[in-house]
This record gives sequence, structure tokens and C-alpha cells, in this order.
Amino acid sequence: MSPTASLSASQASQTPQLATRALPAGLARLPKPDLTWSPAIERATAPIYERLKDIIPPVEWPFMAPYIHAINRLKKERNAVILAHNYQTPDIFHGVADVVGDSLQLARLATKAEGDIILQCGVHFMAETSKLLNPDRMVLIPDSQAGCSLASSITGADIRLLKQRYPGVPVVTYVNSTADVKAETDICCTSSNAVQVVESLGSDRVIFLPDEYLGQYVQSLTKVKLILWKGHCEVHERFTGPELRAYRDADPSVQIIAHPECPPDVLAEADFTGSTAHMIDWVKSHKPAKVVMVTECSMASNVAAEVPEVDFIKPCNLCPHMKRITLPKILDSLLNLTEEVVIDEAIAARARLPIERMINLKI
Ligand code: 13P
Ligand code: SF4
Repeated sequence: MSPTASLSASQASQTPQLATRALPAGLARLPKPDLTWSPAIERATAPIYERLKDIIPPVEWPFMAPYIHAINRLKKERNAVILAHNYQTPDIFHGVADVVGDSLQLARLATKAEGDIILQCGVHFMAETSKLLNPDRMVLIPDSQAGCSLASSITGADIRLLKQRYPGVPVVTYVNSTADVKAETDICCTSSNAVQVVESLGSDRVIFLPDEYLGQYVQSLTKVKLILWKGHCEVHERFTGPELRAYRDADPSVQIIAHPECPPDVLAEADFTGSTAHMIDWVKSHKPAKVVMVTECSMASNVAAEVPEVDFIKPCNLCPHMKRITLPKILDSLLNLTEEVVIDEAIAARARLPIERMINLKI
């Protein structure tokens, strides 16, 4: 068993540095558009609803469609690109996002994003990552309080103490972390490349932060000795092994696929373990008759819209942070250009490096 670091972690929740600055020349706040449901909006959004009709009841569409229509128009006017994580709700994921993916895909795509403005539909560490990779562009997040229990489990000061305790041992940090923490990190990883990143360092020991369960999963796949931290995802830690066994007892043909942020007894029940993108690929390629996606609940709805032949059994654990992002907030964000992510340049210069090292790894 790997040693688990027990230095005193500040559990204080950390919010990103956000600022409402004077708007750059040529960018003005815009008035709220008319959001009345009309036959014209119904026609304009019909192709989107066609994809969502099995997921979103018809009675809800007249409330969503005017926002989707307005956001898509405003996006063009602002020359903005919307990046959305796989945990965003289907109205956002299928309705307004230009680019969707897991954390690694979003980080990679952020380096290629075109447009003057990046609007991040996800949580603040994702918006910070986009800003670190696009220092000259405006990066917006519709709700600055969209945090993450993993990111708030550790501070830069905690890492400095760990480095004193384990001198010379390289630090791998999950992207689910603040810029302050990344600034103390050698290289970042995500759930889809963690093993390769750890092994790329050529070290027999690695400090792996902050997700203990992801670390234990990686430890089961590598000989490199991992020094772990006790951070947990508040969504994935709620799943239990007995809960999943009950699904299998009810129907032995069911396939169970799980995210590696889940506890070990949950992963022991899984037929497949992988990042959100790997889970989606697995469902699309295997097309199981019935599947339990052991991860944030909205993702199953997003995939169900694309593979209606698969029956999704949904243990519905929602991420309260991801769910802070809504269509009305996205519209406000584009109208008022709020809230802008601003990272202290001294921290940003150091925090950018471990993300770039990860992106540049040829794996
Ligand atoms: P991935 O999409 O990279 O698998 O991450 C999951 C997650 O919990 C993001 O907050
Ligand atoms: Fe953080 Fe978990 Fe929410 Fe992802 S699902 S943002 S890891 S709390």
C-alpha cells in the first residue's frame, strides 16, 4: 500500500481569481434579447430538439429553446467559442457547445480554439486551464462559484510541505486543481493519461495529487511507488460496491462502467474503468443492451441522445458545481462579458508549464 501523505491540508475552499474589468474597446455590454417562445424560434431550434426529443420533454423545450437560440446568435456576434465538459446538462452539451469533451480533450482543444472569447461551461479549474493556455484571450465562466471538491482539497502551501518531506520526488497533479497548486507541480495529468504521465518521469517514486482514489487506481497499474493525498471527488465517492452489485443481481447482463475517481470497491465491480471520454467511446463501440455509467448523471443523458438503442440505468449523482452552469447564466455571461478569469501573471507563468508538459507528451 502506498504511503498516504498526512500533512495538514487546508480544506478552505478556493475560488478562482475573477474580475470584471473595463471592457476592451469594441466590446460593450448588450441588452437582453426577447426570450419569448415563438414559431420562428421553434423552427430555428427544431434540428437541435430532434436530437434531444427523447431526453427533454416537449413541455420543457419552450423554456429552453429561446435561450439556446439567443446564445447561438450572440456567440457569433461576440466571436466566442463555448467549451463544455461531458457533465454539462444536455441543453448545454447538445444545444450551445462548440466543443465538448473530457478534461484532457478540453485542455487540448483550448489550445486550438478560435475566437476572441472562450466561454467555459464546466468548473473553475477548467476555465483556469483554458486561461493558462490562452493568456491573451478573454476566458469567461458563467458562475465563478462552480468549484470542485478535489481542487479545494489542497493548496500550493501543502505541496511545498510535501516537497520538503520528499525532496527530489517529482509531483504529478491532476488537472482538477487550482493554478496556485499547478504552479508547484512538475506535470499535470487527467484521468485519461495518468498512468502514462506517471511513467513518463522515469522516477521510482512520484507524489500524486490530490485524488486518492484515482491514485490508488493508477497504483494498481504501475510499479512506480505513488505518494498519495486524501482528496476525493464528492460525486464519485458516493457510489458503493453493494449498490452496483444490486444492479448486477437484478440483471446479470448489465454492463457497469466506472470513472477512476470512484472508490476501489466500486471499481472492483466495474467491467470497464476510464475517463469520461473513454467511457463514452466504450458505450459507442460496445453498444451494450444495458449499461450503468458510474459517474456524474448528466453524462448518461448526453450519450443516450446519441445512442438511443442503449438502455441507461442511472444512479443519479449530480455534481453541484457543474450544475451551477445554466442557460440563463451562459446568456448573461455573453451579454455582460462576466465573469472573466484573471490569473496573477507570476502564478500563471509557473502554472502553465505542467499543463503544457502534459499536452506535449506524445502519448
Ligand atoms: P474527466 O472528464 O477528465 O474524466 O474528468 C472527470 C471529472 O470529474 C471532471 O471534473
Ligand atoms: Fe470536481 Fe467531482 Fe464535480 Fe468533477 S464531478 S468537478 S471532480 S466535484
